[in-house]
Amino acid sequence: MDQETKLYPSSFNPLFTKPSRPLPEEIAIIGAGTIGPDIGYYLKSAMPGIKLYLVDVVEEPLSKAEKRISTYVQKAVDRRKMKEDQAQAVLSNIFYTMDYNQIKNCDLVIEAATENIPLKQKIFDSIENIVHEDTIITSNTSSIPADRLFTKMKKPERTTITHFFAPAWRSLPVEVITWEGGSQEVIDYLSWFFAYTGKAPIITDNAICFMLDRIFDNWCNEAAYLLDHASVSQIDKLVEEFVFAGPFFVLNMANGNPIIIETNTLQMEEGAHYRPAPILGSVEKWLTNRPGTKMEVPEDIKNTIRDRMLGILFSQSFDIIDRGIGTKADLNFGCQIALGFRKGPLDVMRDCGEAEVERIMQKFQGERPGFPQAKKPLSTYQDFKRYILVDEIDGVKIITIRRPQAMNAISDEINNEILTVLKENIDNPSVKGFVITGYGNNAFSAGADIGKFPATLGNKNAAAQYARDCAEVQLFMDQMDKPIVAAINGMALGGGLEVAIRCHSMIATKNAIFQFPEITLGIQPGIGGCIVPYRKWPQGADIFHEMICLARRITAKEAVDIGMVSKITDDYSEMIREAVEEVKNLEGKIKRIPDRSVDIPEITIPDQPMAGKLALSKEAISIIVKTIKAGAAADTFADALEIGYQGSAEIACTDAAKEGISAFLEKRKPEFKT
Ligand code: COA
Repeated sequence: MDQETKLYPSSFNPLFTKPSRPLPEEIAIIGAGTIGPDIGYYLKSAMPGIKLYLVDVVEEPLSKAEKRISTYVQKAVDRRKMKEDQAQAVLSNIFYTMDYNQIKNCDLVIEAATENIPLKQKIFDSIENIVHEDTIITSNTSSIPADRLFTKMKKPERTTITHFFAPAWRSLPVEVITWEGGSQEVIDYLSWFFAYTGKAPIITDNAICFMLDRIFDNWCNEAAYLLDHASVSQIDKLVEEFVFAGPFFVLNMANGNPIIIETNTLQMEEGAHYRPAPILGSVEKWLTNRPGTKMEVPEDIKNTIRDRMLGILFSQSFDIIDRGIGTKADLNFGCQIALGFRKGPLDVMRDCGEAEVERIMQKFQGERPGFPQAKKPLSTYQDFKRYILVDEIDGVKIITIRRPQAMNAISDEINNEILTVLKENIDNPSVKGFVITGYGNNAFSAGADIGKFPATLGNKNAAAQYARDCAEVQLFMDQMDKPIVAAINGMALGGGLEVAIRCHSMIATKNAIFQFPEITLGIQPGIGGCIVPYRKWPQGADIFHEMICLARRITAKEAVDIGMVSKITDDYSEMIREAVEEVKNLEGKIKRIPDRSVDIPEITIPDQPMAGKLALSKEAISIIVKTIKAGAAADTFADALEIGYQGSAEIACTDAAKEGISAFLEKRKPEFKT
């Protein structure tokens, strides 16, 4: 078994598993310090109906926790992220208590107390004597291996570590540790549970500090050693190339110095080179600047700092992969979503190129002997899919778009990875077909990556070419003889919907919604969105007019009514099972998109076109109407698609597009000239 399947023996996508237990109804968190209440708030926001017990040994943290959770709820309501009735539900049924006996009916208990083994063991002993037989018991330790905490317990198989990242109510990842004494059933259930409730579980091996803290702690520790060469603010500034906030800024926010001392001392079991920098013990707060503050740093200092910080980052990354502590994809993903890295460490390596990585690592070895070096050729660390997970069920390859931090928005790299998997397997006789789905319960995909759009605004040729380039996956799908089914697990918007409608069939969960929101950005669907629906499902033309021109959303039920969706399922795992069945049903029966013109009904646009409360741009809509009509009238499908690319290029040169895209990126409401 390779290291990756050892960590993920069931599936890479945690929601494929049919959960072995129901959702918990009562959950306890032991320790009401900083992270405990944050974990609690995440759980209550995701499942407002549960009973939550926050337990501590003294009163003060409990009353502080109560205030903190109320503040979070109020902020969410003020920002319209939470409705009043939901806020009431979140705040009710939270029990702030010093009485362990109250947790007796809990299905899940998460310990989030101080990092002290005897203390934690005492807590687990108390928990185990109170809760029922099946209760899952976990620790939020960031560094202590599971066996040191749980081996003495009566039923260690129901325990593991679930490590959250600050701020735990918002930060997506949770490391779930697989260890000898634990059971696969518990790991699978917890992974399912976290993904179901909106987190991104990452399975790691039971090494000291697991995966992501090995990166973070050593990154900070190395920065502290480098204070012989540069100032705190210089180091923070220089590494802004790689992270949103430098190590000292983050350490200040988290009161992190004692934590690094503790965790790096623990890592010294692996060698003296992990020794914490002495200065960490004598400084309380670092003199930092806010991230983004301008500062010039002399070139020689720059090179010293950059090389060493990359040295430690690469060293830890090699070690994590070589020892199988985590997968390459999770390392890259986790560093971005948990630690604020702009790119994953393996992306940074790729950008540097092999010769530069070798130079950096040689220098690092000289300066910091003992630290791990690459054990394999450098190319092996690049051999993985960064943004998609690939599973296989019954000979069907299941591609999951995993970019939950951007609601699975489809970047160029995602497009390329999907295309690569299709091409790699198209001639493999043991592969029956493909399913494509999105990670989590929320979104199949929120569209093409809007961050990429500004580059083509105002440039007709570039915009048309960009649309053609993005369409490569869809064109490949059009001519595939093996079936590909879209499994729509939530929102399918814009460019995401343009991928889904090119699949040979769609299965959706009951919460799925379908929308072309492009007009709210002042643009139009450019990769077949104005063309394909009319040819595949002409009976839905009136609805498509409204979807494309006015951004109307449709439900899964409406999508079934017009023939777009073949089946609705209650939940994710059922959706996947049905999608796999659909692949098998479609073998040899794929319908091609018609290669002739199609009659469509008149398009009527109101005098003041609106999408909800947003007044839309009439200029942009007139371009869309023109594209839809010309596309439907085109004699061949290829001509129609080209009309679609040209339409999206024309619209990219309007004021509406400029305003719509800027507004999205600036997080404000657009104001179109109407
Ligand atoms: N491209 C790039 N990033 C996207 C994206 C897209 N299509 N859709 C969502 N995201 C990002 C957001 O920018 C945000 O990133 P941030 O946390 O770094 O700020 C993150 O995903 C979460 O989205 P957010 O808007 O905060 O979530 P929400 O629940 O309030 O709203 C949507 C969800 C889907 C309604 C909203 O994100 C949206 O309107 N997205 C654009 C949809 C669209 O127009 N798609 C068509 C493009 S072809």
